[in-house]
Amino acid sequence: MYPRNAIFRHDNADATSYTPQMFYTYRAERGENTDKRLETMPKTPDQQATQPTSPKSSPKAWTHKRHLLDTEDLAADEAMCIMEQTAEFKRTAEHKKAFPSLSSKTVATVFYENSTRTRSSFELATKRLGAQLINLDVNTSSVTKGETLRDTARTLISMGADAIIQRHSASGSAHLLAKMLGDQVSVVNAGDGWHAHPTQALLDLFTMLESRPQLQGAKVTIVGDILHSRVARSNISLLKKFGVEIHVAGPPTLVPPLLTELGVIRHSELDSALDGADFVIALRLQMERQQQGLITSIGEYQKLYRLDHARLRNASKNVRVLHPGPSNRGVEITDALHDDKEISLINAQVANGVLVRMAVLYLLLNE
Ligand code: CP
Repeated sequence: MYPRNAIFRHDNADATSYTPQMFYTYRAERGENTDKRLETMPKTPDQQATQPTSPKSSPKAWTHKRHLLDTEDLAADEAMCIMEQTAEFKRTAEHKKAFPSLSSKTVATVFYENSTRTRSSFELATKRLGAQLINLDVNTSSVTKGETLRDTARTLISMGADAIIQRHSASGSAHLLAKMLGDQVSVVNAGDGWHAHPTQALLDLFTMLESRPQLQGAKVTIVGDILHSRVARSNISLLKKFGVEIHVAGPPTLVPPLLTELGVIRHSELDSALDGADFVIALRLQMERQQQGLITSIGEYQKLYRLDHARLRNASKNVRVLHPGPSNRGVEITDALHDDKEISLINAQVANGVLVRMAVLYLLLNE
């Protein structure tokens, strides 16, 4: 069991109260044609009273949570606050305007596991918001002398850290840190073991919303090593709040049967999972976490589960492919599909990752 956190405040937000209005506004401001979708867009009572809704006039407000540990604990309207803030930062960047400043704040990144995207984008996000950055290199820090998670964090807090961005191989480590530190600092989970990777799910959500502003009823298929994937778990819990129909496919040994209890549809064959899919999320085959015998061979995995253009023939005609990275090119996805500028959203995911992390830092730290 993961230590359940008592820190997040669960409010009474109704997940179905999410509406994509701000994305239409956002796309319209970018000169994108949204008229048809606007006409058919479902409306909530809130929206009917206040249309046209702009990001700034959203009826739902950020609830001033202290930490971001998991999408499971994030209400749909809170996720939408992050989406709105991200969209606003994207507009600000496109118009080359100044971002709001967090110059009085200090952010520390503490990565006990390797990372390219998450760590670099948090660093960039911190710098773009004008905050101070402590980039702890765990391999050359006093962690190598046996310093504990708590003492490392307390040391950084004593130096003035307002937020600790932590990645760790132990599931539940971010919740544990938040519980130990209480209100002293904001803890952001940058990936804990097999458990959660909330900012990845949030950037995936933002990227999907850019492509399709109404996600209610969309079919999202997650393919590959679901068992070891914190990205899959965080995506499933977040996307379900937005009315998405989630399918998973992969070798039966890598797709936990219990997922069906979450309302996820499980497939052992890729073709049925991809049938009519609007989005496909390819996951990395996590060779470093594999126990012997979970897959028969890489060759067989490629034959049965590797995504390529031909396998998408029965997907939606507007299907888009995502991958959290890093990719094992040729194993879970072909080069041609990975680099297909029309279908692949992988580069957009990386670019949006910086903006989503700016939004998370801003919402957690801005007073
Ligand atoms: N998606 C992701 O977490 O990538 P990194 O391991 O490079 O941060």
